[in-house]
Amino acid sequence: MTRILGIETSCDETAAAVVIDGRTIAANVVASQIDLHAQYGGVFPEIASRAHVEAISAVVEQAMRDSGTTYDKLDAVAVTRGPGLVGSLLVGLNFAKGVALAADKPLLGINHLEGHVYSLWLTEQQRAIAFPVVVLIVSGGHTELLLMTGHGQYRRLGSTLDDAAGEAFDKIGRLLGLPFPGGPNIERAALNGNAAAYVFPRAKRDDSYDFSFSGLKTAVMREATVMPASETTRRQRGAEKKAQLRSGISIADVAASFQQALVDTLVDKTVRAAKAFGATEILMAGGVSANQALRRTLLREAGLPVRYPPLNLCTDNAAMIAAAGHYRYEAGLRCGLDIEALPMWPLTSETYSAAS
Ligand code: KG4
Ligand code: ZN
Repeated sequence: MTRILGIETSCDETAAAVVIDGRTIAANVVASQIDLHAQYGGVFPEIASRAHVEAISAVVEQAMRDSGTTYDKLDAVAVTRGPGLVGSLLVGLNFAKGVALAADKPLLGINHLEGHVYSLWLTEQQRAIAFPVVVLIVSGGHTELLLMTGHGQYRRLGSTLDDAAGEAFDKIGRLLGLPFPGGPNIERAALNGNAAAYVFPRAKRDDSYDFSFSGLKTAVMREATVMPASETTRRQRGAEKKAQLRSGISIADVAASFQQALVDTLVDKTVRAAKAFGATEILMAGGVSANQALRRTLLREAGLPVRYPPLNLCTDNAAMIAAAGHYRYEAGLRCGLDIEALPMWPLTSETYSAAS
């Protein structure tokens, strides 16, 4: 049996959890900073790291208390090492090093994306997952399509060439004047809208498994907004901040049509990859996997079993980091106390075993 403390601070949640055997959650504490960042319409890195510093100690103590365990009973401390905001990562990493040193426990540096993958193992205790599986990770920072052939065995099939799926939701949410984060608010607005009101661009039917959402974003902007005269020639990043909503436009219709176009793109590439690589199932994780339209469309189109985490494990948490830690621990991988944060860290078999 393993008992692993997980710590996660890669973005805007300060989180700690204790997980038994990579499957059973003994404690799962998440302090969200969403309210702090909402006023800026996105995550403000400087404020994020300061908020992590303020919260981390109480969050970890709370997780230990909830789990009814003590530091000496832990097998290891697993912490998100990357990818993410460097200032935020360092808070969790340094705290984890302190715990590992004081309690004399091994330290495990975890890839945040791998954490999202293992959120699936936390909830499906009855039905074992048979490899190979195709995994779609869709969050605010990432859109990754992976072929997973075993624990720690990842082949990167595709990723986004521009915005992440959640980032696209957040930007279009801001454009439509909806509160941050855009994803859940667009989903809510879309409930009253007609997804066929606008035909926004879908994925190109090519061999690539990479995603691109900038064309979709531009199409939505063109349809839903007017530019102030001084901005009409600007097409660079950030131009959407200056746009104004076209009067009389139905936000619900735009939200529903945008959401469906983005969902169709994600589902099309994921299902094609699953068929091409003989996957037994499709796994989906990350904040955007909470989206009901995405779940529904994938279930309908997959022709294979589909799994996604419960809502509280879709967005960032530390239980998924502890679960990933279990498999790293079982594989005999350990990190030195001198490991550094890795703000850019793709998830492949090579990077998995090299980063110890
Ligand atoms: O996984 P996550 O908590 O953080 C990152 O690792 O980035 O994902 C946050 C992202 C945000 O962009 C948010 O808008 C999106 O997930 N999100 C959603 C929904 N809930 C959260 N997007 C679409 N529909 C949702 N229901
Ligand atoms: Zn995440």
